[in-house]
Amino acid sequence: MRKIVIAIDGYSGCGKSSTAKAVAKKLGYTYIDSGAMYRAATLHFINKFTVLTNPKDIQQSLDSLEVEFHKNEDTGEQETYLNGLNVEKKIRSMEVSERVSEVSKIKEVRKELVSQQQKLGKHRGVVMDGRDIGTVVFPEAELKVFMTANLSVRAERRQKELLEKGQMVDLNQIIQNLSERDRIDSTRKESPLKKAPDAFEIDTSLLDFEEQVCEITALANRKIEAQ
Ligand code: DC
Repeated sequence: MRKIVIAIDGYSGCGKSSTAKAVAKKLGYTYIDSGAMYRAATLHFINKFTVLTNPKDIQQSLDSLEVEFHKNEDTGEQETYLNGLNVEKKIRSMEVSERVSEVSKIKEVRKELVSQQQKLGKHRGVVMDGRDIGTVVFPEAELKVFMTANLSVRAERRQKELLEKGQMVDLNQIIQNLSERDRIDSTRKESPLKKAPDAFEIDTSLLDFEEQVCEITALANRKIEAQ
């Protein structure tokens, strides 16, 4: 059966990553976290003290940026590597969260990462989540989903997620960070976050995790059967 591309876009903290990961597992597809790539690029720029207003400096930093995903053999989870180093924990820190939208606005960064994402998905059989997957990275994706949820639900989910990773963060700080990222992500000039006209919109505010996963998997199976 021909494999498809599933693009899941939406606002920060809607549960896109965990849902996309579970859908990929059910279908035997590869999950690709495009947000992790923007986070890794942000960490790279922080480490290199890159001046974000200087295109030459940005390009030079990008030339030495290599992002890869490797499976952690103990947990079975896919983790992010930046130039050979495991940065999975570091890229989820508030420091990176607070700077990632600034980095994601930069044209050169998007060009480089979109090209890497297209390479990762070229054999299809992938579930990729992000902000522009259905509009820019894979505009021909067979299934596009646009996830939404109200801000307080998203902030509480994010707080729980961070707590599970051992980080205690104030709810107001998370609300502020999510709304600021929503604002920058949806108003930026380069590939702003928006729903593709042919995407299915799913509001997850009142859905539980299993319901989200089942709904998207059912949509995917219908698309796969129609191939
Ligand atoms: O999915 P996330 O919250 O980990 O993504 C972090 C940031 O990366 C998000 O605020 C915007 C940016 N991003 C993007 O611009 N395009 C994508 N395809 C994925 C993420």
